[in-house]
Amino acid sequence: MEDSNPMHRKERAFFSLPTTLKARFLLYAFFSLFHRTLNLCLHLFNISRMKISGIQYGRNFKTEGIIIIDIYPESEVVIGNDVSIISDSRRATSAALAFPAKFKTFSKTSRIIIGDSVGLNGTSLTARSRTIHIGAGTIIAPNVIVVDSDFHIPWPPEQRRYYPGDEHDHDVLIGNNCWIGMNSVILKGVHIGENSVIAAGSIVTSDIPENSLAAGVPAKVVKVYKSV
Ligand SMILES: CC(C)(COP(=O)(O)OP(=O)(O)OC[C@H]1O[C@@H](n2cnc3c(N)ncnc32)[C@H](O)[C@@H]1OP(=O)(O)O)[C@@H](O)C(=O)NCCC(=O)NCCS
Repeated sequence: MEDSNPMHRKERAFFSLPTTLKARFLLYAFFSLFHRTLNLCLHLFNISRMKISGIQYGRNFKTEGIIIIDIYPESEVVIGNDVSIISDSRRATSAALAFPAKFKTFSKTSRIIIGDSVGLNGTSLTARSRTIHIGAGTIIAPNVIVVDSDFHIPWPPEQRRYYPGDEHDHDVLIGNNCWIGMNSVILKGVHIGENSVIAAGSIVTSDIPENSLAAGVPAKVVKVYKSV
């Protein structure tokens, strides 16, 4: 009588493969296990670094790959529940990732607040003296930079290098349920309304209203989404 157990059928199928394919399959299984173990170790490393830096994070927090963490001791970084931070381009949805995720604060007035269910992919967040707030449910595609500061003043040139110009820093607010496309840059003082989309490669220099698609350099509203 024929054995109908699916596990036994899979085993028979595996053993009937040519030797080179069997070896490739076993090597693939080995490296995939190795990668999972490595990611678990890196997650433990990330959360240890976060704890040491005073970063608060909520439940079901996930990280993959090494996150760059450079936090001024008295600044505030708060990460909500169900947040995932990907810093490893091996993940299919992060295949275009060019740099690791980064959290940097410069002073005791710097704040980075990440809402619940946010997904960051190699996102670089730098708060020099103000607040960067990312609303709940927002997803940020690979290689996005968000800053609250220009870090130098454009004029006069003799002061550009050394004058800090913190007075020009401004809060950045990305609303709930936004989607920021790959390689976008969000500059100081920008507020992006909830549900809005920033198209890939945009540079956002001024406010974007809710429920809209903004694209280009500088980003302009090109479409308003209507509720269904
Ligand atoms: C924004 C996006 C999702 C398209 O959204 P959409 O609602 O289908 O928008 P449309 O394709 O109808 O485009 C609307 C207008 O914006 C323009 N546009 C779309 N994306 C643009 C971009 N990246 N830069 C400049 N203009 C863009 C279109 O050319 C179109 O202009 P037109 O009305 O003059 O023809 C897509 O363009 C995009 O940026 N994809 C990348 C997403 C990403 O980063 N994914 C990574 C994984 S998280």
